[in-house]
Order: sequence, then structure tokens, then C-alpha cells
Amino acid sequence: MRTQVGIVGGGPAGLVLSHLLDRQGIESVVLELRSRDRLESEVRAGVLEQATVDLLNELGVGRRMEREGAVHHGIELRFDRKGHRIPLSDLTAGREIVLYGQHEVVKDLVEARLAAGGPMIFEAAATSMHDLDTTTPRIRFRRGAYLDLEAGGIRFREDAEEEEELTCDFIAGCDGFFGVSRPSIPERLRTEYERTYPYGWFGVLVEAPPSSEELIYTLHERGFALISTRSAEIQRMYFQCDPKDSTDRWSDEQIWEELQARTETIDSTSLNEGPILEKTIVPMRSFVCDPMQHGRLFLAGDAAHIVTPTGAKGMNLAVRDVRNLAEALAAWYETGKTSLLDSYSDVCVRRAWKAQRFSWWMTSMLHRHPDDDGFQYNLQLAELGYVTSSEAAATSLAENYVGQAFEE
Ligand code: DHB
Repeated sequence: MRTQVGIVGGGPAGLVLSHLLDRQGIESVVLELRSRDRLESEVRAGVLEQATVDLLNELGVGRRMEREGAVHHGIELRFDRKGHRIPLSDLTAGREIVLYGQHEVVKDLVEARLAAGGPMIFEAAATSMHDLDTTTPRIRFRRGAYLDLEAGGIRFREDAEEEEELTCDFIAGCDGFFGVSRPSIPERLRTEYERTYPYGWFGVLVEAPPSSEELIYTLHERGFALISTRSAEIQRMYFQCDPKDSTDRWSDEQIWEELQARTETIDSTSLNEGPILEKTIVPMRSFVCDPMQHGRLFLAGDAAHIVTPTGAKGMNLAVRDVRNLAEALAAWYETGKTSLLDSYSDVCVRRAWKAQRFSWWMTSMLHRHPDDDGFQYNLQLAELGYVTSSEAAATSLAENYVGQAFEE
């Protein structure tokens, strides 16, 4: 098989890239490890920056998002049992965010991709990459794959076919943190910066009416909690937990008790409860790979960088990567100019660190640190007091949270 751009990974990065390339008349093939069903049902984050929303609309895949997504103009920071509103839009000349689940974005992108003729190959595991520093890099892949998390990785069905090869002009590595793309850059040529945290997020999807019109980020003696939403009927909530904890150890009652305690206010408003539809533990990791390119392989999204979820940046950052990549590839195909391809990693890594700083800051401000004797907690309360009382400090949070317009 041959294509112009081989895209490994059909998450938001890979899919948005294939749409952007298609718009420029550049052909691509998307290889995705998961089945379509599995890909479209994985519950992930849900905050879209305005720039992401604008791009999805521009690509013609924003109709359902416009209908079902909720536009938000502020968030609440809650501590000392009191809520404080950060008026995001007032502080950023009217910029806004939209709450719309990442897997809904993926559904819309897949549908439009397949309607346009794809090609997108599901249940296809990229196994290795070759000749990255030539003009004909190759991806080896095998159909009939599935993820067996208990057995710790990729497995193949018994009737799986032999390995195949996809020869490309360029390869986009959009296959996430555990994918084959990043390790295909020789180890001596890349530096990986990583931080793990002694806590994770316990995430639940619940069937209940919203408890608040805006997102609530709260710091409580027992730890962080976040109240988010998906629709008028479905809510998304998280609370800080031990990353080694298991969802089975928590009854629905205990989960509600924890969420209610952490979000309690002096006027005793409480969360609307309902059936818990799904429980997951989200690990906390910060990670950057530098550089994000090698020869004709270009990494994008989680394959290159992971931010802690507190700043809601992950998917937005991935979309910014592929926007740069598509622009650089279009320039190459049009004029043979390599300058944008050459500077791709520098531009993206710099932006990734900026997002790291913000996500790390939000994370540090809002979580209980397990070995804290109270000093850290009081500093955090002072920081929250400052952010919610100084317009300068609130503006700094707001402009990072809503994100900037795309750079030209
Ligand atoms: C959601 C996730 C986040 O990481 C965040 O900061 C805000 C909202 C969510 O899943 O809705």
C-alpha cells in the first residue's frame, strides 16, 4: 500500500490531521488499533478551547457539537467551603469554552472521514517503522488486532492476516503515549522529561441533572474534586484518589459521600445524585518528548506530550500540533519548502511546555499533597485567595484556560 501521509492513530490528533490534509488535497491513511465501537465509546475529557471549536466548525464537523455542546463563560474555584467565579469570557475579550466529550468529537470526525471515503483501517496495529530518514518511510502493521489490557498489550485474533506495509512520503505519529511512534525515534536522539504524581483522579459518569451551571474545581482537606457536565442528563465528576486504588473498592454510596464532602459549601448546597454509569481511575502524568520529529516521522498529541488533566489542555494541544503539521506538509507539497517542517518540533515543544506550566500550576494549587504537614495546604489556599481576588491573577488563569487563537 502507498499513501502520501501515513497516520498512526485515529484519536483527535490523527483524525483532525486527516481532515486538514484532505482539505489540501493530500491523501492519507489512518491506522487505528481499536475497533470503531471501542474508539467511539472511550470516555475522556470534554473541554474544548474556542480555537478547537472554530477549527472543527471550519472542517465542517461541528454541527452536532454546536447543537449538543454547552458554551461556558466561566468556571468556579471552590475552597474554604465557598465558591468564587472566574469570569473567563469577561477577562479574555469574550473568548469561551465548549463542553463536549472527546469521544463525541471522535464520533463526528470518524463519520465525516468515512463519508469522505476514508481510508481508515480499524483494529490495525502498527508494529514498526522503517526508513524514517529516507523519502519513502514505511509503517508495518497488522490487521486483526485488539487491546488486552489484562494481558498488558496488543493481541491478534487467530485469523489475523500477515503483516502489511504502508509506504508513505511522511508519517504522523498520533498513537498516544504507549504507541510505537515515539520509540521509533532512536533513543539517543530524543530526551524525555517526565513527572508522575502521587495521586490520580477517580472519574465517574453519572445520570443526574447538572449540579451547577459552570465547572467547579475544588480544593478540600480531603483533596481535589471537579464537577463537570456532558449534557442535561449526564454529568462528569472526578475526585483525587490514590493512583493505585481500584474502582471496585468503591461503592456508589462511598463515591457520593466523598464528592459531597469535598464540594460542600457553607450554605450547604449539595450535588444532584443519580446512578453511576461508569467509573475509571485516571493517572496523573506530565511528559514531554523533545524533539517531536525524526526524519520524516512527526509526532503529535499524546505520543509527544501528556499534560495533567487539571488544565483541560490535552486534546486542545493535540489539535494545535496537527494544525501546524498540516500547514507544514501543505507547504511542502505545494512548493517543496521545508522550513515549516524543519521548525515543527521547536514550535510544538515550546507550546507544550507552556501548557505544561499551566497544567502543573493548576494541579499543584488544587490537590492535597500526601506528605503535606499543612504548610503546603495553606500556601495553596493563599494562592486560591489571590487568584480569586486579584483581576491580574484571575486574568492569567483565564487566558491560559481558554487558550489563544491559532498563531498565524
Ligand atoms: C473535564 C476534564 C478535565 O480534565 C477538566 O479540567 C475539566 C473537565 C471533563 O471531563 O469534563
